[in-house]
Amino acid sequence: MGKLFLNLLSTLLILTFASNFQANADELFSKGKEVFLEAGNCAACHSLSDAGSIAEIGPNLNQIRPQVQTILMAVKNGIGVMPAMEGILSDEEIEAVAHYVSIAAEQ
Ligand code: HEC
Repeated sequence: MGKLFLNLLSTLLILTFASNFQANADELFSKGKEVFLEAGNCAACHSLSDAGSIAEIGPNLNQIRPQVQTILMAVKNGIGVMPAMEGILSDEEIEAVAHYVSIAAEQ
């Protein structure tokens, strides 16, 4: 097999993996946004510009820019008047909303 062919093949493989990864990441992002607006009710208490929410009961997420780990803790266990949502949201929904908020808060 020629070297050029091998190079071409590996480039194709990398491109395929990269675009799959991109698609999966986007899927988690949109699922998280849905949880933020609906099942999780986050938009009722938090401002986040990507979600178009302007509530002021909890901190503005674009200002505190929380890391994934911080969001997971807050959503699972609750904090202050924010209710714990472990058992109310599924693990998948919690993962998705944490992924979404960590990215959207940076924008
Ligand atoms: C009933 C209102 C309410 C809802 C619903 C709510 N939050 Fe909160 N959230 C708060 C309040 C109030 C705080 C500040 C608590 C404190 O520091 O005492 C907070 C804090 C946070 C923090 C910061 C945690 C930290 O360690 O500083 C994050 C991140 C967060 N909320 C994300 C979310 C997400 C994601 C959702 C949806 C799944 C959500 N919140 C739903 C009211 C709410």
